[in-house]
Amino acid sequence: MSRKINIAIFASGSGTNAQAILEYFKESNLVEVKCIYSNNPNAFVLQRARSYDKATFTFSKEEFYKTDKVFQHLRHNQIDLIVLAGFMWLVPEKLVEHFEIINIHPALLPSYGGKGMYGHHVHEAVLANQEKKSGITIHMVNKEYDKGEILLQELCPVLPEDTPDSLAERIHKLEHEHYPLTIEKIAQKLRFQGS
Ligand code: GAR
Repeated sequence: MSRKINIAIFASGSGTNAQAILEYFKESNLVEVKCIYSNNPNAFVLQRARSYDKATFTFSKEEFYKTDKVFQHLRHNQIDLIVLAGFMWLVPEKLVEHFEIINIHPALLPSYGGKGMYGHHVHEAVLANQEKKSGITIHMVNKEYDKGEILLQELCPVLPEDTPDSLAERIHKLEHEHYPLTIEKIAQKLRFQGS
């Protein structure tokens, strides 16, 4: 493929991962972040997107699950890869069937995954179980929460004095380092396949 690999970022909240990705690919000849999609019109990620001059697109639950609006928008943008970065809704089957989609999860799947296991809920559960280690999982998205093929896991310690916030901070650092690198590897593969 001679053009850049177009990615769409889906996020529901603050968007520190989205920002790490935007920053990493700011001057890239390989990857173009086409648009930031969100189910939450008040999400801070939308402000981050605008500060990088990126298009944003928001949608309601009804639009996401009962219409083709998001699907058509992705097609129009010629999206090659969808990147979930703190996106809290299950992705509809039609999108899973048509697009390559990856997600990042703030724990070592298959532990601490599934519906309701997101953000601080994950870290609270890890601490409640007195785990000695946690980490991140980057995986393919299929029709079930957190069940797709695992692409990468990175570990970090859980310290006796950790709070959900301190653990989240350690995990976020790992995420910001590894998510852009994983996206880059997938984009290289997609470009090679399309060439
Ligand atoms: C990240 O830690 C991500 O792993 C998690 O939400 C956070 C979003 O942070 N995702 C999930 O829990 C998905 N089940 P961010 O908005 O600062 O990128």
